[in-house]
Amino acid sequence: MKWDFLVKKALEAKKFAYVPYSGFHVGAAVLTSDGRIFTGCNVENASYGASICAERTAVVKAVSEGETKISAIAITSDSNTLTFPCGICRQVIAEFGIPEISLICSNKNGEYKEYSMTDILPHAFTRTDLEKAGESVGKDG
Ligand code: THU
Repeated sequence: MKWDFLVKKALEAKKFAYVPYSGFHVGAAVLTSDGRIFTGCNVENASYGASICAERTAVVKAVSEGETKISAIAITSDSNTLTFPCGICRQVIAEFGIPEISLICSNKNGEYKEYSMTDILPHAFTRTDLEKAGESVGKDG
């Protein structure tokens, strides 16, 4: 099916999940507008709040290599049901989704459903909210 290739990458990335506390493995794969793929897994920490989710790992890897235009992201975990990004990850993904990103939510068997950002984060707070308020938005963005 259409997104099998990206879900496969997320499933592969899940193997690297560092999860000594939750035991819950999550994998993600970002597809950029240039056709590059960046993968990520969750990386936990003894100071629990310092843990990072798989989706943000993948997004940060892409952005830190100059790829800020993300067209799709696949997410998978150990679960039999589809895995959806947490609230913080939804906000981070929204920052780089151009103009609409495809969210491919998968289960551990690679079965998936496709969602849009407006499906999972309606009324998102974005840079346009800052602009409307007359705040300056840096030239870099
Ligand atoms: N987790 C993710 O990696 N992505 C999500 O969207 C949900 C939660 C991770 C964080 C933590 O390592 C584990 O799953 C249990 O919450």
